[in-house]
Amino acid sequence: MLIMGSTSFSPSLSLSPSLSPHSSKFPNPNPNLFFRSHSSFTPLTLRSNQTRYRLKKLPSSNAPNFLVAASGKAEPLKVIISGAPASGKGTQCELITQKYGLVHIAAGDLLRAEVAAASENGKLAKEYMEKGELVPNEIVVMMVKERLLQPDSQQRGWLLDGYPRSSSQAAALEDYGIRPDLFILLDVSEDILVERVVGRRLDPLTGKIYHLKYSPPENDEIASRLTQRFDDTEEKVKLRLRTHHQNVDAVLSVYKDITVKVNGNEAKEHVFAQIDAALTHVGEQRKVNSGSLAA
Ligand code: AP5
Repeated sequence: MLIMGSTSFSPSLSLSPSLSPHSSKFPNPNPNLFFRSHSSFTPLTLRSNQTRYRLKKLPSSNAPNFLVAASGKAEPLKVIISGAPASGKGTQCELITQKYGLVHIAAGDLLRAEVAAASENGKLAKEYMEKGELVPNEIVVMMVKERLLQPDSQQRGWLLDGYPRSSSQAAALEDYGIRPDLFILLDVSEDILVERVVGRRLDPLTGKIYHLKYSPPENDEIASRLTQRFDDTEEKVKLRLRTHHQNVDAVLSVYKDITVKVNGNEAKEHVFAQIDAALTHVGEQRKVNSGSLAA
């Protein structure tokens, strides 16, 4: 149920998909929002057996990227998505970017790119990733900050995935004056998480995320080239989960006034319907806020 605070979401808000059925035709929730097309966006491809590939799909030509005009300045949407390992962050990011055209910035992907490049940072990062621990802030914080400040993120808005993961990372964002409009927390039970991790496969050509049971490859050709992440074992996911549990409450406390808690146990389309409803709601709220600013 959607409950509003005076200017933002109530903490740990649960959304029911039935409240906001996902429509493939996106209604502009806000006449003051600017919609832009993204036909000129360039996809990013990373190639390595151990890199988690997330080829950025081009948003469809009618994909909305809503910007709110407040005080004459267009403000793009800024979103953080969080959740335990394999809770579905990457899967939902594919759906969100497809519809909203935000720039997807995944801390794990940035790190795996460093690992694949065998840079000094990558070598060090891999040691921590293999233990399921957080990579030191000296590597992660600047890397994410620089990506957030790139022109595409600033112009189109961003969807930050897997960052911040500790109170110090959240504090660093706050210190830089970087604050999201919405913090999405995917809530998934632990037995489901383990099953999702061990069954996950990645297509190195398209960047698509598969699952042997829940999202199997479309044909034998794709199936034959799927790869598995080096940290996707039952043993390693337990370490990653422990790290997640040690840190999640501290991060949540920073964003409690803008957090929406989403039931991530459901099928991915139903999970997306909940997120879509929350994003639409944020758009409407921004309209109200920008209207009261203009008045
Ligand atoms: P990272 O790459 O961020 O891994 P993670 O947080 O463990 O999350 P995953 O990428 O494993 O899962 P996901 O939630 O994206 O799930 P997905 O959509 O793929 O981080 C890796 C490591 O890097 C960390 O352990 C750490 O060492 C380091 N690191 C990262 N960020 C850091 C930071 N900020 N600071 C320091 N270190 C950092 O889905 C999983 C599977 O489930 C797929 O097969 C998918 O098809 C399936 N699935 C998804 N949704 C559904 C659904 N609704 N129903 C059925 N199946 C589904």
